[in-house]
Amino acid sequence: MSKDTIGVGLIGSGFMGKAHALAWNSVGPVFGDAPRVRLLHLGDAGEELAARKAREFGFERASGDWRKVIADPEVDVVSITTPNKFHLEMANAALTAGKHVWCEKPMAPTLADAEMMLAAARASGKVAVLGYNYIQNPLIRHIRRLLDEGAIGPVNHVRIEMDEDFMADPEAPFQQRHEAANGWGAIDDFAVHPLSLIAILFGKVARVMCDMSKPYPTRKTADGDRDVEVYDIATILLRLENGASGYIAASRTAWGRKGRIAIQIFGAKGTIAFDQERMNEFQLYVTSDRPTEHGFRSIISAPHHPPYDRFCPAPGHSLGFNDLKTIECRQLIGRIVGEDSVGITFEDGIFIERTVAAAGRSFQEGRWMEVE
Ligand SMILES: NC(=O)c1ccc[n+]([C@@H]2O[C@H](COP(=O)([O-])OP(=O)(O)OC[C@H]3O[C@@H](n4cnc5c(N)ncnc54)[C@H](O)[C@@H]3O)[C@@H](O)[C@H]2O)c1
Repeated sequence: MSKDTIGVGLIGSGFMGKAHALAWNSVGPVFGDAPRVRLLHLGDAGEELAARKAREFGFERASGDWRKVIADPEVDVVSITTPNKFHLEMANAALTAGKHVWCEKPMAPTLADAEMMLAAARASGKVAVLGYNYIQNPLIRHIRRLLDEGAIGPVNHVRIEMDEDFMADPEAPFQQRHEAANGWGAIDDFAVHPLSLIAILFGKVARVMCDMSKPYPTRKTADGDRDVEVYDIATILLRLENGASGYIAASRTAWGRKGRIAIQIFGAKGTIAFDQERMNEFQLYVTSDRPTEHGFRSIISAPHHPPYDRFCPAPGHSLGFNDLKTIECRQLIGRIVGEDSVGITFEDGIFIERTVAAAGRSFQEGRWMEVE
């Protein structure tokens, strides 16, 4: 990487590939203080798809073979936005080639794979960060500040529910998210996001007790029904290392829920409530208010919740999902140039993977499991 230009490679151009491309395109104009970004090489499965997406996203070259993105000498950092089962091979190849990596969550379908990714990151000395965008919400940062200041006192209980309905229809066809090769299902796909929020807000999980279920055991394919190999619903009871109790509930089959990540944090002197479906506000209840005015107040995102100010000078005009990716991208660049940064690196992500592995074993063995 030259002092003032970062060469970017992108593997995968689906939902998250586009989110990364938008972030790489907008990080310069939004923040104004980042090194120049050069969108160099996009790889996807197939030359035609890669060439079309490179044109749409603004990349200079395209390849139907992801290895060519990694071999490109001008690429400094590789965004990996392919299904989970490819993360190990692609991340390790990029790190071994001396590239920084921005890999979508979760790290990998198994803890053993994730440990290999961590080993590769350590051996390379390169920056390796995971795509846990929800922790980048300026309001989540503000909630963290309020917790640090003791605004609601010591926290004793945390609940996070993450629900969507994109698999709620029993007739919805089989897709790669139903393959065991990509992990457990709702835990890897969803519960890791609440776990990233817990990591940023509170620290580590000490032990878990998990139940999972599969409401629709077969799904349609062009060649007939196929067994669903994973679980679309998971409930995880938690005990955090700081002593607080809590739970995570995750469902991909929750009709009516579109992008819900409902967080409730209960402390000795108040409560904080947030929902990603209304990501520009949160609710605060503090016992220090006069009893005659006790009640939840709504706090709306505004320029005094940085880095909201980098996007918009006016309060209440709302950031969106893709803006979280742009903030994540700026944090990644900051880490590359040696600044203090907010993010879940492979070093941090391994604790999420250990919690996932403990939840899987807890479900299989029907008992509480320590997170190793
Ligand atoms: N951070 C988030 O909020 C979030 C949201 C959704 C998905 N994800 C994660 O992003 C990853 C991708 O999910 P998605 O929803 O974008 O999937 P997607 O199906 O929309 O996109 C996957 C892309 O990878 C490409 N691909 C598949 N095999 C490939 C190969 N061998 N070589 C090159 N490209 C290949 C596909 O063609 C496609 O462009 C998953 O790990 C998922 O967990 C994260």
